[in-house]
Amino acid sequence: MNRIVTLDEFILRRQKDFPYATGELTGLLRDIGVAAKIVNREVNKAGLVNILGFAGEENATGDKVAKLDIYANEKLIECLSNSGECCAIASEENEDYVPLPVLDGKSPKYVVVFDPLDGSSNIDVNVPVGTIFGIYRRKSNASEPATLEDFLQRGSQLVAAGYVLYGTSTLLVYSTGHGVNGFTLDPTIGEFCLSHPDIQMPKRGRYYSVNQGYYLKFDVEMRRYIDHCSDLNLRLRYIGSMVADVHRILFQGGIFLYPNTRKYPHGKLRLLYECNPLSFIVEQAGGKAVSCQLARILDIEPRDLHQRTTIAIGSAEMVDEMVDFVQRYSALPV
Ligand code: AHG
Ligand code: MN
Ligand code: MN
Repeated sequence: MNRIVTLDEFILRRQKDFPYATGELTGLLRDIGVAAKIVNREVNKAGLVNILGFAGEENATGDKVAKLDIYANEKLIECLSNSGECCAIASEENEDYVPLPVLDGKSPKYVVVFDPLDGSSNIDVNVPVGTIFGIYRRKSNASEPATLEDFLQRGSQLVAAGYVLYGTSTLLVYSTGHGVNGFTLDPTIGEFCLSHPDIQMPKRGRYYSVNQGYYLKFDVEMRRYIDHCSDLNLRLRYIGSMVADVHRILFQGGIFLYPNTRKYPHGKLRLLYECNPLSFIVEQAGGKAVSCQLARILDIEPRDLHQRTTIAIGSAEMVDEMVDFVQRYSALPV
């Protein structure tokens, strides 16, 4: 029988993979692992306590905020303050970045971006939700307060990224740029255990994932590509939690699309804390991620913490095919 490898043990073993292997990133990843367990506990009992429903607020980008969004946000901030390795965070739920307290003797070198609860409209109906995170080495001097520039780094500068999926079981998937590994939470011992080592995405898959209800709002080239997916008899799956939709594709192959619509002319999903971390993971697993305007997601220069982007992410050959469709059909005269 294989020996159980816990997330903490794995992170420590892999510390040497990281160019600045001083244990700081290790501390940060462990903080995120602890936050994930706490959020998982609350997500699991969401139906039992009076925590369901909306808090009656709107977040920085105008969405309704569910109570669990706020809870998850607070827990991530609290846990990331534990090791003292993170100087500031940027979250979907905070309009501006939030500096964290500096612990005695520490000069934190990292900033963390996150979507504390992705797919939060699904909580009330027991559909999987997730947490998405990305870790950057700060640009500013470690003895000074963090600056906006620390956060406005391209996705290709990420030193680590990952997500937690609170699904039929709870999984934490992360990468430090040396492959992708997945850990399943064993609730009996309260530990994330290595369950999916060295995840590699299939080059093609049988699934496509897009909100097809917006079909008529998409540009013609995107409609043609979606028609092509349908012609190929690909199976349409759309959960409405990006993290869960991308998770399926990571394991089974396929493509996830969120193109521009009339309502969201630049796409709906956020570059910093949704698209970049998931693109980092997908690329590390052999897949690709581009905008529907064909820029590599990880190369997009962020100008704003809550910037949106269109996205096509998934199996390498399928993303290449989507790129072909865009190039072919957008060249047509209108
Ligand atoms: P969040 O719950 O963090 O606001 O994210 C919801 C996002 C994403 O997870 C999902 O793929 C997308 O919104 C769904 O949008 P539509 O309902 O427009 O398809
Ligand atoms: Mn989200
Ligand atoms: Mn969210």
